[in-house]
Amino acid sequence: MRKLEIHDIIVASHNAGKVREINDLIAPYGFSAKSAAELNLEEPEETGTTFEENATIKALAAAKTTGLPALSDDSGLCVKALDDAPGVYTADWAEKEDGSGRDFLMAMEKVHKAIEAKETSDKGGYFVAVLCLAWPDGHVEYFRGETHGDIIWPPRGDAGFGYDPIFLPEGHDKTFGEMTAEEKHGWKPGQKDDGLSHRARAFALFARTCLSQDR
Ligand code: IMP
Repeated sequence: MRKLEIHDIIVASHNAGKVREINDLIAPYGFSAKSAAELNLEEPEETGTTFEENATIKALAAAKTTGLPALSDDSGLCVKALDDAPGVYTADWAEKEDGSGRDFLMAMEKVHKAIEAKETSDKGGYFVAVLCLAWPDGHVEYFRGETHGDIIWPPRGDAGFGYDPIFLPEGHDKTFGEMTAEEKHGWKPGQKDDGLSHRARAFALFARTCLSQDR
């Protein structure tokens, strides 16, 4: 495993919600993260069929273009009653039919209706985040985090982003959409457990492996 000694890192994402959360998680380590969107990097097509494949496409493209290590996040919501859909296609489920962007209220409703159509009492699901750290020479490493819980309806809360308002993490009575960023991460550098959100859990693994704890 390579340690990350350079303090400039590219966050290989054009998703403002993810970039904000990664910045929250990386800032205490003294890293300055620039996003692919800020640098006007092209958004590569996500042609993979696994979170790992798509994370690799994004991180390698940014590392090779900028000459700096790049950290990507490929994530999604897996619903047990739907055989783990939408999974890697979570962002696609939010694409509007007229191609004019994404609508997450529509996407959440689609998930809810698909579960209802199964006539099951199983509301279980989980968020996955796979971080890929890529170096310009092509070296890559992966860090995966998952958070399990229930998919609820109607949506609750307007914090966070994406599908947060319909996800109730196990053992909690607030959805991710009702939590502050700190509550959703549930993790700070040096903390013994790995926090709450899938992204914080993947990040905790990344930090333990690649970041010096004495920063
Ligand atoms: P991708 O990783 O760019 O393919 O997109 C992942 C999709 O999953 C995004 O559209 C998000 O809406 C959704 N997603 C990923 N992480 C979260 C999260 O922490 N909260 C809510 N939605 C998320």
